[in-house]
Amino acid sequence: MLSEKMTEALNGQVNRELYSSYLYLSMSAYFESVKMKGFANWMRVQAGEELVHAMKMYDYVTSAGGRARMLAIEAPQFAWTSPVEAFQHVYNHERAVTGLIKALVGIAISEKDKATENFLQWYLDEQVEEEDSSDMVLNKTKAVGSDLSALKAADNELGQRRFRFPRGFDMFPYGAQPEGTTIGSLKK
Ligand SMILES: [Fe+2]
Ligand SMILES: [Fe+2]
Repeated sequence: MLSEKMTEALNGQVNRELYSSYLYLSMSAYFESVKMKGFANWMRVQAGEELVHAMKMYDYVTSAGGRARMLAIEAPQFAWTSPVEAFQHVYNHERAVTGLIKALVGIAISEKDKATENFLQWYLDEQVEEEDSSDMVLNKTKAVGSDLSALKAADNELGQRRFRFPRGFDMFPYGAQPEGTTIGSLKK
């Protein structure tokens, strides 16, 4: 049901989503290294969400009769100079990803693949949220400036973010997980 061109494009996007996860994990490690655990938490949750974006698309490729192909994941940047620089990077990255998703929709349309076009709508909606939330944190970090107590408050606030699987998504579809082996707080 998936054309070869569509399969290749979706596999390319799976790779970009995994790269996004890698990038945010790198940012989480950076924030951890400068003892900003709330920022580190926000980035780690973000990395989890990107992994889900990748897996949701991976599962779609499989269910639509394609074969998922794992490509090399580019190494992300290692360090940033400030929270503002990191969040400017997040915002720019999310804007670029929105462009990639729109290009995928364009391919689905040119391939007359209505199912994939519909599937991608979830990603378009998700990108609106991702651009909004990263822009919000970017503005917050800009407003903090060099005020240390404001920075501490922002760090506390970002520490409240929690991971949630999207409705209906099963990360481990091959069978129920035995009790006591859940993945920490990553619960539905
Ligand atoms: Fe994503
Ligand atoms: Fe994203």
